[in-house]
Amino acid sequence: MAGKESEEHTSRWCALPEPYPEPNVVRPNLFYAQLLLEDYAGSISEMTAINQYFHHYLALEGEYGEVAEIEECIAIIEMLHLELLGETILLLGVDPKYRTITDNKQTFWDASNVFYGTGLYDRLAADIAAEKQAIKKYRMHQQLIDDKYIRNLLERIIKDEQHHLKLFMQAASRFCPDLFRSIEDNREDGLG
Ligand SMILES: [Fe+2]
Repeated sequence: MAGKESEEHTSRWCALPEPYPEPNVVRPNLFYAQLLLEDYAGSISEMTAINQYFHHYLALEGEYGEVAEIEECIAIIEMLHLELLGETILLLGVDPKYRTITDNKQTFWDASNVFYGTGLYDRLAADIAAEKQAIKKYRMHQQLIDDKYIRNLLERIIKDEQHHLKLFMQAASRFCPDLFRSIEDNREDGLG
């Protein structure tokens, strides 16, 4: 990814104004590539996030313009994450096709991974859950990957996901107070 492109993305209002590390690896590693393929195009992945948020943008555009704009802007940042992960997977020695590899078996990304939803409440709830799951998964993979460059990249991506979670929560507090309250209550119970 060229530095200029990265700057273009970080200047978006929904992005953190912090540069991204250039994709790099200590050495090719098939296992690390398999882990990153899950983040790239697994069921909970950048590929799913891009498509889910973009669908929510289209579906909410008429009635909830402000939320739709958040969905669109975040989808574009998730696309940048897809690019950074894809370039890293390539450096690890694996073709970044949209699939995961487990026990030598490929599972291609499927559009049924997307939670399409029917209204603002269930869509925002799913988007908030998706960001939380993504952060958890990145943290898990950070522990398993002993490569300073990849750990560093995942750290920067996690910061974006935390920011996205905040933006979705702000949207919930304004447009879906019931949802916001129920998430806040769960958090107190240690479930959030
Ligand atoms: Fe992401």
